Amino acid sequence: MNPYQRQSSPVTATGAHNLDPHLHRYAARATGMTASEVRALFAVASRPEVVSLAGGMPNLAALPLDSLSGEIADLVARDGMTALQYGSAHGVPALREQICEVMALEGVYGHPDDLVVTVGSQMALDLVTRIFCDPGDVVLAEGPSYVGALGTFAAYQAEVVHVAMDAEGLVPESLRQAIVAARRAGQRVKFLYTIPNFHNPAGTTLAVARRVEILDICARHGVLVVEDNPYGLLGFDGQTYPALRSMDLDNVIYLGSFSKTFASGLRVGWALAPHAVREKLVLAAEAAALCPPTLNQMIVSRYLTTHDWRGQIKSFQQTYRERRDAMLSALTQYMPAGCEWTDPDGGFFVWLTVPDGVDTKAMLPRAVTARVAYVSGTGFYANGQGNRQMRLSFCYPTPERIHEGVRRLAGVLEGEIDLYRTFGPTSRKSATGPQTPSPNTE
Ligand SMILES: Cc1ncc(COP(=O)(O)O)c(C=O)c1O
Repeated sequence: MNPYQRQSSPVTATGAHNLDPHLHRYAARATGMTASEVRALFAVASRPEVVSLAGGMPNLAALPLDSLSGEIADLVARDGMTALQYGSAHGVPALREQICEVMALEGVYGHPDDLVVTVGSQMALDLVTRIFCDPGDVVLAEGPSYVGALGTFAAYQAEVVHVAMDAEGLVPESLRQAIVAARRAGQRVKFLYTIPNFHNPAGTTLAVARRVEILDICARHGVLVVEDNPYGLLGFDGQTYPALRSMDLDNVIYLGSFSKTFASGLRVGWALAPHAVREKLVLAAEAAALCPPTLNQMIVSRYLTTHDWRGQIKSFQQTYRERRDAMLSALTQYMPAGCEWTDPDGGFFVWLTVPDGVDTKAMLPRAVTARVAYVSGTGFYANGQGNRQMRLSFCYPTPERIHEGVRRLAGVLEGEIDLYRTFGPTSRKSATGPQTPSPNTE
């Protein structure tokens, strides 16, 4: 033991016992940062005997690791003095130009100057919220919405108002009503956060006609749009949809990422913003991290130059399509009557709704005991909704494992439905409390 280390005591200055002696020091915003109450469960869920339909980890098996390692070694040998040095908060210029080529695949024609490279699109989300939201400001978001975004909004003490979705994505009339209701209540609505393509967790895609309508509603009511699009190039038939940003250059901040189309561990994402906003984002990025990692940006840039990245994306599309097919056919084969699920045409996720009386949060420990894991719907709402839903990911397990996982899940659900029929809704209570999925399950 270090002889200079002071003994910490669980007893506070007032003599009270406290598990966290720093509790009284935290800023108010830290109370919104809650740890996953099912993290212990996820430790069990990652055991090999458990089929995890919970995590949203991309499948990297198809990446050309051998040639990549050679490229990375060469990069350090040739350009190490730049690659291992600080860079600008704006991002490596060559990469920003290449990102513009990537975005053009979805009809977005941005200028490299209007783009900020970030540590994953998660950091872009953080920066956008940081520069726009004061405590109590309203962020509109689909219900359900991406758990990592909800965590960011909570960290900045923004209030999330969920807007209804259906099979065609966000419902425009619900959006209009939510804006009007918030304004009537005297609240400041800062932006709409939306995932138009292959939604996480819902698996749905916003109908093209609705895109125009939604942009129109936001423009008329003076609400900014934050378009989060990490899955847009993962349409299973190679199809893409026009980005919101391609239809409105002045009122949309577009967030992109290489996490799903290349390598999530490199943590390279970006924000494309109207020019003045971009300026603020760069300042905020500087304050947060000085600059994104130069080496990682140069690796991505080199990959885009030397590899058939379009071909790689096609191969990802095919892998995920096979896995989506495996999940949908297993759901059709095994799920008890009364279950409904979405039918994604891209991305990683299916959203399952279970019969009335089944509580997906309460059921999770039983599912893990039956060696299958999922994420309860409650993690994807800021307001505790989602007990009758769950997110099932098909991105990581093989088709055989997906099939087996769904079979096990259906068995657990049948048991729950039987119990409910026999004993009624109070037969089993939640053992886990409110659930926030751990970040690595997003
Ligand atoms: C909708 C959505 N936005 C953003 C992110 C964060 O991605 P990144 O790895 O680029 O930070 C994810 C990751 O799962 C996501 O699903």
